[in-house]
Amino acid sequence: MSQITEIAPDIFKITTFISEVNIQFNQFLVKDEEPLLYHTGMKGLFPTVNEAVARLIDPTTLRWIGFSHFEADECGALREWQRFAPDATAICSFVSKMVSVDDVVAERPARALEDGEILVTGKFRFKFLQTPHVPHAWDAGHLFEENSGTLLCSDLFHQNGEVEAVTNSDIVSRFKEMLIEYQEGPFANYLPYTTKTEKILGRLAGLKPKTIAPMHGSTYVGDGESAILDLAQAMKDVLS
Ligand SMILES: [Fe+2]
Ligand SMILES: [Fe+2]
Repeated sequence: MSQITEIAPDIFKITTFISEVNIQFNQFLVKDEEPLLYHTGMKGLFPTVNEAVARLIDPTTLRWIGFSHFEADECGALREWQRFAPDATAICSFVSKMVSVDDVVAERPARALEDGEILVTGKFRFKFLQTPHVPHAWDAGHLFEENSGTLLCSDLFHQNGEVEAVTNSDIVSRFKEMLIEYQEGPFANYLPYTTKTEKILGRLAGLKPKTIAPMHGSTYVGDGESAILDLAQAMKDVLS
């Protein structure tokens, strides 16, 4: 059974720990007039995530399904969700929609968001930022909820292990440990460090998030700007 934690008012984190890979997979359910799920998790997680969402809302009323990039843990269960929730529309970058999502995992065409576009779901305002190759993949993007200052940051700040749901302590050192560990095994070069990485991370830091919500590991509540700048340095140290 997944663990549910409210990380900001009406923003819920759904966590499932998979011991074989020593990773938590987090999805985020936003309770609003138009409910939004960020990350579907893999196809195999659909029953578990669906049961967790049902503890929070009527899951058939889901309106939006967001994710950063085309990958199984980001949007693998999109079709399952869209068959279950008749009004659920995927939101992603234009590249994601055109290159993979509509063809491979979508039951209905996705809505492509432009860089800087705002999606209002009721009381929440989600700003879309196009962030190619950050955390990874050409089609990558991020959603930032402006009213609560919550950055849904996908694989950035990835921490391995069965860690606490929310923390005020530093998570960058755990992220750096993961990068170093992965560089020595089959998951080497998980995240690229390109000529644009620093600039894109600087833009995310400029949002001054209060809550940083990664897909893998603890949510961080605190000075998000400093945390992202520290993360940029950690990526530079290990990957460049
Ligand atoms: Fe990813
Ligand atoms: Fe991921």
